[in-house]
Amino acid sequence: MTSLTLTITETLRYRGAIGQWSWVLHRLSGLGVILFLILHVVDTSWAVFYPGEYIRAIAEYQTPLFTLGEFALVAAVVYHAFNGLRIIFFDYKPERWRYQEIAAWGVLAATAIVLVPVFLLMFGHVNEFYFGDEPGNVLSLGEVLGGQIRFVVGMGVALIVALVLSALYGAIRGEREEKAGPSRFEGFWWSFMRISGILIVPLVFGHLVLMHVLQGVFDIQFNAALAEHAAVGAVGMGVNVTGTAVEFVADRWNTLVAGVAIWRLYDGALLALVVTHGFNGLRYVFTDYARNETVKRGLVYLCFIAGLVLLVLGAGALLISVDDTAIQLAQEAFQHLYE
Ligand code: HEM
Ligand code: HEM
Repeated sequence: MTSLTLTITETLRYRGAIGQWSWVLHRLSGLGVILFLILHVVDTSWAVFYPGEYIRAIAEYQTPLFTLGEFALVAAVVYHAFNGLRIIFFDYKPERWRYQEIAAWGVLAATAIVLVPVFLLMFGHVNEFYFGDEPGNVLSLGEVLGGQIRFVVGMGVALIVALVLSALYGAIRGEREEKAGPSRFEGFWWSFMRISGILIVPLVFGHLVLMHVLQGVFDIQFNAALAEHAAVGAVGMGVNVTGTAVEFVADRWNTLVAGVAIWRLYDGALLALVVTHGFNGLRYVFTDYARNETVKRGLVYLCFIAGLVLLVLGAGALLISVDDTAIQLAQEAFQHLYE
Protein backbone atom coordinates (compact mmCIF):
# COMPACT_ATOMS: atom_id res chain seq x y z
CA MET A 1 0.00 0.00 0.00
CA THR A 2 3.03 2.29 0.14
CA SER A 3 2.51 3.33 -3.47
CA LEU A 4 -1.07 4.34 -2.68
CA THR A 5 0.32 6.70 -0.04
CA LEU A 6 2.89 7.89 -2.58
CA THR A 7 0.17 8.59 -5.16
CA ILE A 8 -1.71 10.75 -2.67
CA THR A 9 1.27 12.60 -1.22
CA GLU A 10 2.97 13.20 -4.57
CA THR A 11 -0.27 14.42 -6.13
CA LEU A 12 -0.72 16.92 -3.33
CA ARG A 13 2.97 17.91 -3.42
CA TYR A 14 2.92 18.55 -7.17
CA ARG A 15 -0.39 20.37 -6.99
CA GLY A 16 -0.73 22.54 -10.02
CA ALA A 17 0.98 20.06 -12.37
CA ILE A 18 -1.83 19.29 -14.77
CA GLY A 19 -0.32 15.99 -15.99
CA GLN A 20 -0.42 14.49 -12.49
CA TRP A 21 -3.96 15.72 -11.84
CA SER A 22 -5.17 14.36 -15.20
CA TRP A 23 -3.77 10.95 -14.30
CA VAL A 24 -5.49 10.98 -10.89
CA LEU A 25 -8.80 12.21 -12.36
CA HIS A 26 -8.64 9.58 -15.10
CA ARG A 27 -8.10 6.87 -12.52
CA LEU A 28 -10.80 8.13 -10.13
CA SER A 29 -13.36 8.63 -12.91
CA GLY A 30 -12.67 5.10 -14.26
CA LEU A 31 -13.10 3.63 -10.78
CA GLY A 32 -16.33 5.57 -10.16
CA VAL A 33 -17.84 4.38 -13.44
CA ILE A 34 -16.92 0.77 -12.81
CA LEU A 35 -18.46 0.86 -9.34
CA PHE A 36 -21.72 2.08 -10.90
CA LEU A 37 -21.42 -0.52 -13.67
CA ILE A 38 -21.32 -3.39 -11.16
CA LEU A 39 -24.60 -2.25 -9.57
CA HIS A 40 -26.09 -1.44 -12.94
CA VAL A 41 -25.51 -4.76 -14.72
CA VAL A 42 -26.76 -6.72 -11.68
CA ASP A 43 -29.83 -4.42 -11.39
CA THR A 44 -30.60 -4.69 -15.10
CA SER A 45 -30.52 -8.48 -15.00
CA TRP A 46 -33.26 -8.32 -12.33
CA ALA A 47 -35.65 -6.99 -15.01
CA VAL A 48 -35.57 -10.56 -16.34
CA PHE A 49 -34.80 -12.68 -13.28
CA TYR A 50 -36.38 -10.72 -10.35
CA PRO A 51 -38.77 -8.15 -11.84
CA GLY A 52 -39.96 -6.93 -8.41
CA GLU A 53 -36.37 -6.14 -7.42
CA TYR A 54 -35.83 -4.20 -10.65
CA ILE A 55 -38.85 -2.03 -9.89
CA ARG A 56 -37.31 -1.29 -6.52
CA ALA A 57 -33.85 -0.64 -7.94
CA ILE A 58 -35.21 1.98 -10.36
CA ALA A 59 -37.20 3.54 -7.52
CA GLU A 60 -33.88 3.77 -5.63
CA TYR A 61 -32.40 5.58 -8.63
CA GLN A 62 -35.26 8.08 -8.30
CA THR A 63 -34.04 9.42 -4.93
CA PRO A 64 -31.79 12.39 -4.04
CA LEU A 65 -28.75 10.21 -3.22
CA PHE A 66 -28.78 8.59 -6.65
CA THR A 67 -29.70 11.86 -8.34
CA LEU A 68 -26.45 13.36 -7.01
CA GLY A 69 -24.63 10.20 -8.05
CA GLU A 70 -26.13 10.47 -11.53
CA PHE A 71 -24.63 13.96 -12.05
CA ALA A 72 -21.26 12.69 -10.79
CA LEU A 73 -21.51 9.62 -13.06
CA VAL A 74 -22.19 11.68 -16.19
CA ALA A 75 -19.29 14.03 -15.33
CA ALA A 76 -16.99 11.04 -14.77
CA VAL A 77 -17.92 9.37 -18.08
CA VAL A 78 -17.48 12.60 -20.07
CA TYR A 79 -14.11 13.46 -18.48
CA HIS A 80 -12.78 9.89 -18.72
CA ALA A 81 -13.81 9.64 -22.38
CA PHE A 82 -12.16 12.95 -23.43
CA ASN A 83 -9.04 12.30 -21.38
CA GLY A 84 -8.87 8.72 -22.68
CA LEU A 85 -8.94 10.06 -26.25
CA ARG A 86 -6.14 12.48 -25.32
CA ILE A 87 -4.02 9.58 -23.96
CA ILE A 88 -4.65 7.55 -27.12
CA PHE A 89 -3.76 10.49 -29.37
CA PHE A 90 -0.38 11.09 -27.71
CA ASP A 91 0.39 7.36 -27.60
CA TYR A 92 0.13 7.24 -31.38
CA LYS A 93 1.63 10.68 -31.99
CA PRO A 94 4.47 10.93 -29.45
CA GLU A 95 6.14 13.60 -31.59
CA ARG A 96 3.30 15.95 -30.54
CA TRP A 97 4.09 15.39 -26.85
CA ARG A 98 5.04 19.06 -26.34
CA TYR A 99 1.34 19.89 -26.68
CA GLN A 100 0.24 17.42 -24.01
CA GLU A 101 -0.13 20.02 -21.24
CA ILE A 102 -2.34 22.27 -23.30
CA ALA A 103 -4.33 19.19 -24.39
CA ALA A 104 -4.93 18.30 -20.72
CA TRP A 105 -6.39 21.78 -20.16
CA GLY A 106 -8.37 21.32 -23.39
CA VAL A 107 -9.89 18.14 -21.97
CA LEU A 108 -11.04 20.00 -18.85
CA ALA A 109 -12.50 22.80 -20.99
CA ALA A 110 -14.26 20.37 -23.37
CA THR A 111 -15.69 18.48 -20.37
CA ALA A 112 -17.07 21.73 -18.92
CA ILE A 113 -18.50 22.81 -22.30
CA VAL A 114 -20.35 19.51 -22.71
CA LEU A 115 -21.49 19.30 -19.10
CA VAL A 116 -23.11 22.74 -18.86
CA PRO A 117 -25.99 22.08 -21.33
CA VAL A 118 -26.23 18.41 -20.31
CA PHE A 119 -26.60 19.30 -16.62
CA LEU A 120 -29.16 21.99 -17.49
CA LEU A 121 -31.25 19.44 -19.40
CA MET A 122 -30.88 16.86 -16.63
CA PHE A 123 -31.80 19.46 -14.04
CA GLY A 124 -35.04 20.05 -15.97
CA HIS A 125 -36.03 16.42 -15.29
CA VAL A 126 -34.92 16.66 -11.65
CA ASN A 127 -36.89 19.84 -11.12
CA GLU A 128 -40.05 18.42 -12.65
CA PHE A 129 -39.78 15.24 -10.58
CA TYR A 130 -39.06 16.73 -7.16
CA PHE A 131 -40.72 20.16 -7.44
CA GLY A 132 -43.29 19.84 -10.26
CA ASP A 133 -47.12 20.05 -9.97
CA GLU A 134 -47.25 16.38 -9.13
CA PRO A 135 -43.98 15.45 -7.36
CA GLY A 136 -42.87 11.84 -7.53
CA ASN A 137 -42.84 9.41 -4.63
CA VAL A 138 -39.43 9.01 -3.07
CA LEU A 139 -38.07 6.12 -1.00
CA SER A 140 -36.40 7.07 2.30
CA LEU A 141 -32.60 7.11 2.62
CA GLY A 142 -32.80 4.12 4.97
CA GLU A 143 -34.70 2.12 2.35
CA VAL A 144 -32.14 3.04 -0.32
CA LEU A 145 -29.13 2.15 1.84
CA GLY A 146 -30.85 -1.09 2.88
CA GLY A 147 -31.13 -2.02 -0.80
CA GLN A 148 -27.45 -1.30 -1.47
CA ILE A 149 -26.13 -3.31 1.47
CA ARG A 150 -26.46 -6.50 -0.59
CA PHE A 151 -23.92 -5.17 -3.06
CA VAL A 152 -21.42 -4.38 -0.32
CA VAL A 153 -21.83 -7.91 1.09
CA GLY A 154 -21.56 -9.44 -2.41
CA MET A 155 -18.35 -7.53 -3.17
CA GLY A 156 -16.90 -8.51 0.24
CA VAL A 157 -17.66 -12.20 -0.40
CA ALA A 158 -16.13 -12.03 -3.91
CA LEU A 159 -12.96 -10.47 -2.44
CA ILE A 160 -12.65 -13.18 0.21
CA VAL A 161 -13.17 -15.96 -2.37
CA ALA A 162 -10.50 -14.45 -4.65
CA LEU A 163 -7.97 -14.09 -1.81
CA VAL A 164 -8.59 -17.67 -0.62
CA LEU A 165 -8.12 -18.99 -4.18
CA SER A 166 -4.89 -17.04 -4.49
CA ALA A 167 -3.59 -18.34 -1.15
CA LEU A 168 -4.45 -21.90 -2.23
CA TYR A 169 -2.66 -21.41 -5.53
CA GLY A 170 0.37 -20.05 -3.69
CA ALA A 171 0.35 -22.99 -1.26
CA ILE A 172 0.15 -25.57 -4.06
CA ARG A 173 2.52 -24.01 -6.63
CA GLY A 174 4.76 -22.11 -4.26
CA GLU A 175 5.27 -18.31 -4.43
CA ARG A 176 7.38 -17.19 -7.40
CA GLU A 177 8.48 -13.72 -8.42
CA GLU A 178 6.24 -12.52 -11.27
CA LYS A 179 8.09 -11.80 -14.54
CA ALA A 180 8.67 -8.06 -14.78
CA GLY A 181 8.76 -6.00 -17.97
CA PRO A 182 6.69 -5.93 -21.16
CA SER A 183 5.07 -9.17 -22.31
CA ARG A 184 2.85 -10.16 -25.25
CA PHE A 185 -0.05 -10.50 -22.83
CA GLU A 186 0.33 -6.93 -21.56
CA GLY A 187 0.89 -5.69 -25.11
CA PHE A 188 -2.45 -7.14 -26.09
CA TRP A 189 -4.22 -5.42 -23.18
CA TRP A 190 -2.48 -2.13 -23.91
CA SER A 191 -3.93 -2.15 -27.45
CA PHE A 192 -7.28 -3.47 -26.26
CA MET A 193 -7.69 -0.56 -23.79
CA ARG A 194 -7.17 1.92 -26.61
CA ILE A 195 -9.32 0.25 -29.26
CA SER A 196 -12.14 -0.53 -26.81
CA GLY A 197 -11.97 3.05 -25.45
CA ILE A 198 -12.57 4.46 -28.94
CA LEU A 199 -15.45 2.03 -29.59
CA ILE A 200 -17.06 2.74 -26.21
CA VAL A 201 -17.29 6.51 -26.83
CA PRO A 202 -20.28 6.47 -29.26
CA LEU A 203 -21.98 3.56 -27.47
CA VAL A 204 -21.86 4.99 -23.97
CA PHE A 205 -22.62 8.55 -25.10
CA GLY A 206 -25.66 7.27 -27.05
CA HIS A 207 -26.83 5.32 -23.99
CA LEU A 208 -26.41 8.32 -21.71
CA VAL A 209 -28.12 10.78 -24.04
CA LEU A 210 -31.12 8.48 -24.13
CA MET A 211 -31.16 7.67 -20.41
CA HIS A 212 -30.44 11.14 -19.04
CA VAL A 213 -30.95 13.90 -21.49
CA LEU A 214 -33.78 12.92 -23.83
CA GLN A 215 -35.97 11.15 -21.35
CA GLY A 216 -34.20 10.95 -18.00
CA VAL A 217 -34.03 8.32 -15.32
CA PHE A 218 -37.34 9.54 -13.88
CA ASP A 219 -39.24 8.52 -17.02
CA ILE A 220 -38.00 4.94 -17.04
CA GLN A 221 -40.59 4.15 -14.43
CA PHE A 222 -43.77 6.18 -14.26
CA ASN A 223 -44.03 7.39 -10.72
CA ALA A 224 -46.46 9.81 -9.13
CA ALA A 225 -49.88 9.43 -10.75
CA LEU A 226 -49.51 5.73 -11.38
CA ALA A 227 -48.48 5.13 -7.79
CA GLU A 228 -51.62 6.93 -6.59
CA HIS A 229 -53.89 4.74 -8.70
CA ALA A 230 -51.99 1.63 -7.74
CA ALA A 231 -52.14 2.46 -4.05
CA VAL A 232 -55.93 2.40 -4.09
CA GLY A 233 -55.89 -0.97 -5.81
CA ALA A 234 -56.68 0.26 -9.29
CA VAL A 235 -55.73 -2.98 -10.98
CA GLY A 236 -58.80 -4.65 -12.42
CA MET A 237 -60.84 -1.44 -11.94
CA GLY A 238 -60.36 -0.15 -15.44
CA VAL A 239 -57.21 1.84 -14.74
CA ASN A 240 -54.38 0.80 -16.96
CA VAL A 241 -51.48 0.17 -14.61
CA THR A 242 -48.60 0.28 -17.02
CA GLY A 243 -45.33 2.07 -17.14
CA THR A 244 -43.08 0.06 -14.83
CA ALA A 245 -39.38 -0.05 -15.57
CA VAL A 246 -39.66 -3.69 -16.59
CA GLU A 247 -42.02 -2.71 -19.42
CA PHE A 248 -39.59 -0.02 -20.46
CA VAL A 249 -36.82 -2.61 -20.82
CA ALA A 250 -39.18 -5.11 -22.51
CA ASP A 251 -40.19 -2.47 -25.07
CA ARG A 252 -36.61 -1.80 -25.99
CA TRP A 253 -35.24 -5.31 -25.91
CA ASN A 254 -38.18 -6.80 -27.83
CA THR A 255 -38.16 -4.15 -30.59
CA LEU A 256 -37.26 -5.75 -33.91
CA VAL A 257 -35.94 -3.84 -36.89
CA ALA A 258 -35.87 -6.07 -39.99
CA GLY A 259 -36.08 -9.06 -37.63
CA VAL A 260 -33.07 -7.90 -35.57
CA ALA A 261 -33.36 -7.00 -31.86
CA ILE A 262 -31.22 -3.89 -32.32
CA TRP A 263 -31.27 -2.65 -28.69
CA ARG A 264 -30.19 -6.04 -27.47
CA LEU A 265 -27.30 -5.98 -29.91
CA TYR A 266 -26.43 -2.45 -28.83
CA ASP A 267 -26.53 -3.32 -25.11
CA GLY A 268 -24.60 -6.53 -25.78
CA ALA A 269 -21.76 -4.61 -27.48
CA LEU A 270 -21.77 -2.00 -24.69
CA LEU A 271 -21.73 -4.75 -22.05
CA ALA A 272 -18.82 -6.67 -23.60
CA LEU A 273 -16.67 -3.57 -24.10
CA VAL A 274 -17.26 -1.68 -20.85
CA VAL A 275 -16.98 -4.74 -18.61
CA THR A 276 -13.75 -5.96 -20.23
CA HIS A 277 -12.19 -2.48 -20.43
CA GLY A 278 -13.36 -1.53 -16.93
CA PHE A 279 -12.15 -4.68 -15.17
CA ASN A 280 -8.80 -4.67 -16.95
CA GLY A 281 -8.45 -1.02 -15.86
CA LEU A 282 -9.28 -2.10 -12.31
CA ARG A 283 -6.55 -4.75 -12.58
CA TYR A 284 -4.04 -2.00 -13.48
CA VAL A 285 -5.06 0.01 -10.44
CA PHE A 286 -4.95 -2.97 -8.07
CA THR A 287 -1.58 -4.24 -9.31
CA ASP A 288 -0.13 -0.73 -8.97
CA TYR A 289 -0.91 -0.63 -5.27
CA ALA A 290 -0.79 -4.23 -3.96
CA ARG A 291 2.72 -5.21 -2.81
CA ASN A 292 2.13 -8.69 -1.37
CA GLU A 293 2.20 -11.40 -4.10
CA THR A 294 -0.77 -13.36 -2.71
CA VAL A 295 -2.92 -10.24 -2.35
CA LYS A 296 -1.92 -8.98 -5.78
CA ARG A 297 -2.80 -12.30 -7.44
CA GLY A 298 -6.06 -12.46 -5.43
CA LEU A 299 -7.04 -9.01 -6.71
CA VAL A 300 -6.30 -10.06 -10.29
CA TYR A 301 -8.53 -13.14 -9.75
CA LEU A 302 -11.20 -10.81 -8.35
CA CYS A 303 -11.17 -8.71 -11.53
CA PHE A 304 -11.38 -11.82 -13.67
CA ILE A 305 -14.15 -13.52 -11.65
CA ALA A 306 -16.24 -10.35 -11.20
CA GLY A 307 -15.91 -9.43 -14.89
CA LEU A 308 -16.90 -12.92 -15.98
CA VAL A 309 -19.90 -13.02 -13.62
CA LEU A 310 -21.13 -9.67 -14.95
CA LEU A 311 -20.68 -10.75 -18.57
CA VAL A 312 -22.62 -13.98 -18.00
CA LEU A 313 -25.37 -12.25 -16.03
CA GLY A 314 -25.75 -9.37 -18.48
CA ALA A 315 -25.64 -11.62 -21.56
CA GLY A 316 -28.07 -14.07 -19.93
CA ALA A 317 -30.59 -11.28 -19.36
CA LEU A 318 -30.19 -10.05 -22.94
CA LEU A 319 -30.64 -13.51 -24.43
CA ILE A 320 -33.64 -14.50 -22.30
CA SER A 321 -35.22 -11.01 -22.36
CA VAL A 322 -38.40 -9.87 -20.60
CA ASP A 323 -41.63 -11.86 -21.03
CA ASP A 324 -45.28 -11.29 -20.04
CA THR A 325 -44.89 -13.06 -16.70
CA ALA A 326 -42.07 -10.70 -15.72
CA ILE A 327 -44.24 -7.72 -16.66
CA GLN A 328 -47.12 -9.01 -14.55
CA LEU A 329 -44.85 -9.66 -11.55
CA ALA A 330 -43.43 -6.15 -11.92
CA GLN A 331 -46.88 -4.55 -12.00
CA GLU A 332 -47.91 -6.43 -8.88
CA ALA A 333 -44.70 -5.44 -7.06
CA PHE A 334 -45.17 -1.84 -8.14
CA GLN A 335 -48.46 -1.53 -6.29
CA HIS A 336 -46.75 -2.17 -2.95
CA LEU A 337 -43.63 -0.17 -3.66
CA TYR A 338 -44.42 3.00 -1.72
CA GLU A 339 -46.61 1.48 0.99
C1 HEM B 1 -27.92 6.45 -14.36
C2 HEM B 1 -27.48 6.23 -15.61
C3 HEM B 1 -27.99 5.11 -16.46
C4 HEM B 1 -29.28 4.67 -16.63
C5 HEM B 1 -30.53 5.26 -16.06
C6 HEM B 1 -29.21 3.52 -17.48
C7 HEM B 1 -30.31 2.77 -17.86
C8 HEM B 1 -30.27 1.55 -18.44
C9 HEM B 1 -31.42 0.72 -18.75
C10 HEM B 1 -32.87 1.11 -18.49
C11 HEM B 1 -30.96 -0.42 -19.29
C12 HEM B 1 -31.84 -1.60 -19.70
C13 HEM B 1 -31.78 -1.92 -21.12
C14 HEM B 1 -32.20 -0.84 -22.03
O1 HEM B 1 -33.28 -0.27 -21.87
O2 HEM B 1 -31.38 -0.59 -22.95
C15 HEM B 1 -29.51 -0.34 -19.33
C16 HEM B 1 -28.67 -1.33 -19.79
C17 HEM B 1 -27.31 -1.24 -19.80
N1 HEM B 1 -26.54 -0.15 -19.44
FE1 HEM B 1 -27.22 1.57 -18.67
N2 HEM B 1 -27.91 3.28 -17.83
C18 HEM B 1 -27.13 4.24 -17.24
C19 HEM B 1 -25.76 4.40 -17.35
C20 HEM B 1 -24.92 3.47 -17.91
C21 HEM B 1 -23.48 3.60 -18.01
C22 HEM B 1 -22.66 4.80 -17.54
C23 HEM B 1 -23.04 2.44 -18.60
C24 HEM B 1 -21.62 2.06 -18.96
C25 HEM B 1 -20.59 2.31 -18.19
C26 HEM B 1 -24.18 1.60 -18.85
C27 HEM B 1 -24.12 0.34 -19.40
C28 HEM B 1 -25.21 -0.47 -19.62
C29 HEM B 1 -25.11 -1.85 -20.11
C30 HEM B 1 -23.82 -2.59 -20.41
C31 HEM B 1 -26.43 -2.33 -20.21
C32 HEM B 1 -26.86 -3.75 -20.66
C33 HEM B 1 -26.94 -4.60 -19.40
C34 HEM B 1 -27.32 -6.04 -19.65
O3 HEM B 1 -26.96 -6.60 -20.67
O4 HEM B 1 -27.95 -6.65 -18.75
N3 HEM B 1 -25.31 2.25 -18.43
N4 HEM B 1 -29.11 0.88 -18.82
C1 HEM C 1 -15.84 6.38 -22.82
C2 HEM C 1 -14.81 5.88 -23.48
C3 HEM C 1 -13.52 5.46 -22.78
C4 HEM C 1 -12.27 5.76 -23.22
C5 HEM C 1 -11.91 6.56 -24.47
C6 HEM C 1 -11.34 5.18 -22.28
C7 HEM C 1 -9.98 5.20 -22.39
C8 HEM C 1 -9.08 4.71 -21.48
C9 HEM C 1 -7.65 4.70 -21.63
C10 HEM C 1 -6.90 5.20 -22.85
C11 HEM C 1 -7.13 4.16 -20.51
C12 HEM C 1 -5.65 4.00 -20.18
C13 HEM C 1 -5.26 2.58 -20.42
C14 HEM C 1 -3.81 2.32 -20.05
O1 HEM C 1 -3.27 2.91 -19.12
O2 HEM C 1 -3.22 1.47 -20.74
C15 HEM C 1 -8.23 3.84 -19.63
C16 HEM C 1 -8.09 3.30 -18.38
C17 HEM C 1 -9.15 2.93 -17.57
N1 HEM C 1 -10.49 2.96 -17.90
FE1 HEM C 1 -11.26 3.74 -19.57
N2 HEM C 1 -12.06 4.55 -21.28
C18 HEM C 1 -13.39 4.69 -21.56
C19 HEM C 1 -14.45 4.17 -20.83
C20 HEM C 1 -14.32 3.52 -19.60
C21 HEM C 1 -15.41 2.96 -18.84
C22 HEM C 1 -16.88 2.96 -19.27
C23 HEM C 1 -14.88 2.46 -17.68
C24 HEM C 1 -15.57 1.76 -16.55
C25 HEM C 1 -16.41 0.78 -16.74
C26 HEM C 1 -13.44 2.71 -17.71
C27 HEM C 1 -12.56 2.35 -16.73
C28 HEM C 1 -11.19 2.51 -16.80
C29 HEM C 1 -10.27 2.19 -15.73
C30 HEM C 1 -10.65 1.67 -14.32
C31 HEM C 1 -8.99 2.47 -16.21
C32 HEM C 1 -7.66 2.30 -15.47
C33 HEM C 1 -7.20 3.64 -14.97
C34 HEM C 1 -5.76 3.65 -14.50
O3 HEM C 1 -4.98 2.73 -14.78
O4 HEM C 1 -5.42 4.66 -13.88
N3 HEM C 1 -13.14 3.34 -18.91
N4 HEM C 1 -9.41 4.18 -20.26
